[in-house]
Amino acid sequence: MAATVIDGKAFAAKVRGQVAEHVDRLKSGHGITPGLAVVLVGSDPASEVYVRSKGKMTVEVGMKSFEHKLSADTSEKDLLDLIDKLNNDPEVHGILVQLPLPDHLDEDLVINSITPAKDVDGFHISNVGLLSTGQKSMVPCTPLGCLMMLRDHHGSISGMDAVVIGRSNIVGKPMAQLLLRDSATVTIAHSRTKDLPEVVRRADIVVAAVGRPEMVIGDWIKPGATVIDVGINRIERDGKTKLVGDADYESCAKVAGAITPVPGGVGPMTIACLLANTLTACCRANG
Ligand code: GUN
Repeated sequence: MAATVIDGKAFAAKVRGQVAEHVDRLKSGHGITPGLAVVLVGSDPASEVYVRSKGKMTVEVGMKSFEHKLSADTSEKDLLDLIDKLNNDPEVHGILVQLPLPDHLDEDLVINSITPAKDVDGFHISNVGLLSTGQKSMVPCTPLGCLMMLRDHHGSISGMDAVVIGRSNIVGKPMAQLLLRDSATVTIAHSRTKDLPEVVRRADIVVAAVGRPEMVIGDWIKPGATVIDVGINRIERDGKTKLVGDADYESCAKVAGAITPVPGGVGPMTIACLLANTLTACCRANG
């Protein structure tokens, strides 16, 4: 039987609608408008597309959007000064510094200079520690979006075998923490994992977050398993540019019970969760 397609685009629209309703109530009831500041250093084309899209959707849900575009040769001091200003700006409830940063900037130093309560990416070391010890934190947007889709599809994932392929700080590690928090049995696989296909074949849930186009194939998937594809890879095929995930959609969809498409799966959920995190940060800041 063909897999159920998990429609991230529709789910994200629903989440944004709920955020917009809440923002409306905050504005009319309390005179508070949540604000999100996005900082982009340099002009990486993919980052520019993401930042534009984040700004547009922030405004669409009724929040204030503050965009700061800095030149690629911005000094660390100037960037840290801007973050300090945003940390102290009461109109700004969430701060996102788009990654990757140019090489001369220390990414850890920059991220850890954001006030943890405004760190809507959930990348600050305090938020990482809070999440891994099961305390209230800001949760990274992409893994949060994946978890929401899994909960929506399965109800509960308690006791399920989950394999996360990829160990990045942005997706793999926080994804594993979230799955563990929901009582799944979690394996983190990566480039050095021995016999990756065999490891993946044990999984009821596969989260592919390796950044390699179409690496996970149907032959690796346990029949009926759920495949969450975090990859966004641009490839050339038949003379055209095409967006594909880290899973080979065609072969995986023949075996899986459910699968997220690329585009239209995890991607839209990431921005919806960023807006939800900004709303959460605003609510926490205002008691
Ligand atoms: N670059 C790619 N994904 C992300 C993300 O989730 N947050 C930030 N800040 N930068 C990114």
